[in-house]
Amino acid sequence: MCGIVGFTGTQQAAPVLLTGLKRLEYRGYDSAGIAVQHEGKILTEKCSGYLENLNRITDNGKNVPGFCGIGHTRWATHGAPTVTNAHPHVSNDGHFAVVHNGIIENYALLRAELMEKGFVFHSETDTEVVVHLLDLYYTGSLKQAVMKTVARLEGSYALGVVCDEHPGELIAVKSASPLILGVGAGENFFASDVTALIGHTRTVIYLEDGEFASLTPEKITVYDCGGRELQKPLSRVMWNTEAAEKGGYEHFMLKEIMEQPRALKATIEPRVKNGEIVLEGFQLSDEELQGINQIVITACGSAYHAGYVGRYIMEELCRIPVRAELASELRYSNPIINEHTLVIVISQSGETADTIAALKECKARGARTLAIVNVVGSTVAKLADSVLYTWAGPEIAVATTKGYTTQIAILDLLAVYMGHRLGRVEEGRYAALVEGICALPERCQRAIDLNTQAAALAEAFHDKPSLFYIGRNLDYAVCMEASLKLKEISYIHSEAYAAGELKHGTIALIDEEQLVVALACHRPLFEKLISNVKEVKARGAQVLAVAQESERRIFAEADQVLLVPECDALLLPIPEIIPLQLFAYYVAKFNGCDIDKPKNLAKSVTVE
Ligand code: F6R
Repeated sequence: MCGIVGFTGTQQAAPVLLTGLKRLEYRGYDSAGIAVQHEGKILTEKCSGYLENLNRITDNGKNVPGFCGIGHTRWATHGAPTVTNAHPHVSNDGHFAVVHNGIIENYALLRAELMEKGFVFHSETDTEVVVHLLDLYYTGSLKQAVMKTVARLEGSYALGVVCDEHPGELIAVKSASPLILGVGAGENFFASDVTALIGHTRTVIYLEDGEFASLTPEKITVYDCGGRELQKPLSRVMWNTEAAEKGGYEHFMLKEIMEQPRALKATIEPRVKNGEIVLEGFQLSDEELQGINQIVITACGSAYHAGYVGRYIMEELCRIPVRAELASELRYSNPIINEHTLVIVISQSGETADTIAALKECKARGARTLAIVNVVGSTVAKLADSVLYTWAGPEIAVATTKGYTTQIAILDLLAVYMGHRLGRVEEGRYAALVEGICALPERCQRAIDLNTQAAALAEAFHDKPSLFYIGRNLDYAVCMEASLKLKEISYIHSEAYAAGELKHGTIALIDEEQLVVALACHRPLFEKLISNVKEVKARGAQVLAVAQESERRIFAEADQVLLVPECDALLLPIPEIIPLQLFAYYVAKFNGCDIDKPKNLAKSVTVE
């Protein structure tokens, strides 16, 4: 969702801000704007729609002079994506400009109070109260005005502020929304995520909630909410610029699909030493582990689907009841969770609002918490007792691919590791599973190489109005992700269905118009799945099957086949999703969709 950038230095600010915003485009947005200090004034340019419009109005920033400014891409929550509602918002006297990510929950009360005091509101946004509060409280000290303003705000916010009376100075405020400071030489930056910074600097400062910072070209000073100066450590970002660029691929999504063997290797390899799984982030003692009597996996969207895969694998290997819960449901469900529960929270961004809320709810109930996260220093990573990072690198396409498969890789490692430590996975099986996990990057590459026909199949089926994905057991878990992948980027309706459930109602929808994608990789239930294939074929549906490459029987049953390399049954979901990611990608491409930025979607869902 919304993106924030800030720059102060000796080069023209507007082009730097626009390039930074470009790198944040993937987060999803529908309007954009910048505000730059120039000769005692604040110059503001805003547009609705994409950044191209802002680039056009400003000649790529060239006709906005000044060396210090803020920028924003807005994903509309309060008010339509109009120019007036776009950020930055400017105070009535023109002295302050503000950009904001998050939601000011008490904005209606503040708005009424400020209107009574004579402030004029131009937008429908919650953000505008912030700029008027700054104006209200300003008596010459920007720091004091910021502290008094922030003390009035409830909700989540990352703020960027400029004031025309403080040339060269930016203020950055963080509370429950991501904001990172970038440390340069004679120039400094802030941004809502590191991808906007890595072209300029890889030295960063992670702000904690309740902290704010003043940035000038020479200096960054960080304060706590009481205004006391803090000494913050500098961190080094491991991601590089190439990782955040398309590298010759037409779309980030395709690049990220192709990057999966490498991302899996980076995630798995450092955690297997001499045939043993070593999970440094996992902090439960043997006694604590023995005391766990249930595992709850919680997340949203694809991360939840990864958790759903993990549920089968963990229950199978650890012999502990495991359930996967949507974070948006768990947070309001009065769950039975206590100190004997291990809660595994999964999030690529580490900033998903519902996931954070569910994690807090589980912690409050005494659960042991473990996070599987991609973004270092993110809120989920900071809140959980232990963290296992997926080393997938930056994921730019809105539709996750390498994020999802690396999450499953961590769940595989965790399930085998815990099952072994609990004495429920015997040595021979342990060694075979560890070997199988280490082979996943290569299996994943094979899944890419095996399915060069994915584009042709997509061309054949891209005009289907609706699809069913069916499967059993782990195949069903993979169906959920395959179906989401297709619908989010191609806008074609699809449903994931447990194959055995079809005849309990939904088979009424099956006719010759339908394409049924039948996932038939789970060998123990192959025959059962084939019965379901026969049922839908008898009603006229076409069937595209997904099966392991040695499974020749499938060719007699299905109209078309996508292939998955041989693999241990428990480890199949990673190679299995690959042809289905490719299929979804090419269907969207044949339908002319905006693949990396699907309509209405945001990469990081930081509001409820
Ligand atoms: C779909 C997708 C989303 C995310 C979900 C959770 O392709 O990417 O469904 O998986 O919004 O996001 P994270 O993992 O950042 O918590």
